[in-house]
Amino acid sequence: MSDIRWGILGTARIATKVAEAIHNASGSQLVGIASRDENRASQWAAEHDVAKTYGSYQSLLDDDDIDAIYIPLPPSMHHEWSIAAAERGKHILCEKPVALNANEVAEMTSACRQHNVQFMDGVMWVHHPRTRDMKADLTSGKLGELARLTSGFSFRMETYLQNNSMFSQRGNPPKTLDEAQPTELRLQRDMGGGSLLDLGWYCCRASLWAFDELPQRVWASGRYVYDVDLSFSAVMWFNGDRMASFDCGFDKAWRKWMEIVGTEGSLVCDDFVNPWQTDKPRYWLHDQRGQGNEVVSAADVQEQLMVEHFTQAIVSGELNSDWPDIAWRTQRLCEALDQSARSGDIVEL
Ligand SMILES: NC(=O)c1ccc[n+]([C@@H]2O[C@H](COP(=O)([O-])OP(=O)(O)OC[C@H]3O[C@@H](n4cnc5c(N)ncnc54)[C@H](OP(=O)(O)O)[C@@H]3O)[C@@H](O)[C@H]2O)c1
Repeated sequence: MSDIRWGILGTARIATKVAEAIHNASGSQLVGIASRDENRASQWAAEHDVAKTYGSYQSLLDDDDIDAIYIPLPPSMHHEWSIAAAERGKHILCEKPVALNANEVAEMTSACRQHNVQFMDGVMWVHHPRTRDMKADLTSGKLGELARLTSGFSFRMETYLQNNSMFSQRGNPPKTLDEAQPTELRLQRDMGGGSLLDLGWYCCRASLWAFDELPQRVWASGRYVYDVDLSFSAVMWFNGDRMASFDCGFDKAWRKWMEIVGTEGSLVCDDFVNPWQTDKPRYWLHDQRGQGNEVVSAADVQEQLMVEHFTQAIVSGELNSDWPDIAWRTQRLCEALDQSARSGDIVEL
């Protein structure tokens, strides 16, 4: 079977990492980059070893030499461009948050089903071998009845802006949130910004991954500036007395951890989103009395595995229906949490 030929919509910051993953993945070829600005596409193509450039997203979708599309556009544009890509018969790897609400995701995944193309969101940690190892421990019974999941994902936006390579290349990175707000999608509600959709998405996914279902009801609280949540805290009640909680935000030190506890033990991973040390992806299992064991998993590159899992589904001829489904459930959960935080009410799902 020949390689899956990829095109990317938009010269986004994250596209650099995923372009490298596509180049390194087996069975994939990165063929094209589209930008609103043809010159930007050409410059990006030269920097990232890409043969074809397009001055509009639609012209890339119209190219029959492209099989799969990676969409790292602002979240508010994912719905429109996923449906356009599905209609041109392209398989879609779409960045998180997948859309602005669950209805949009339902329309996107329905278009993919109708046109027989694969849909997957860009959550990378679920593809890491460590995630498979942790899941095996959760389902082995060694932690007893799972009862509680707690997670946290945060970074300081000012530090992110200063360190971000794209801003640095432009020579004058914004120093404050006010300076960044007009151009930073994370600080604009109409683009799908806010820490819940940017970071809480991963914590919601951790709860769905551990408990294998949506919660029955949720409560949340956010701190809003520019009408986006700069920090967010959430509580979720699941079937059978199980609970999950998380906090996320652009206003705290960098962290990306989770703990899952059952009646017989606990699992702690202090970097579930991506390992602090890529050559040592680890987590800990503690028994009922707190005795801990470090577990170290295979040190594979999660971005590359994400690309390979995606293309393997395409090549197999049997589209994976779990990926569109988990993307919809994650969005549904974020939507309920947003509704709760903005209203102050407990929201039933
Ligand atoms: N999975 C992960 O680990 C991960 C990590 C980071 C980000 N993300 C997600 O990836 C997506 C992109 O994030 P990012 O920070 O990389 O975005 P970004 O650097 O701001 O890039 C977004 C791109 O979208 C295009 N675009 C089209 N219309 C735009 C508009 N009106 N305003 C701004 N950009 C516009 C631009 O490309 P052209 O100008 O070339 O057309 C721009 O480069 C988000 O959904 C984010 O949550 C995922």
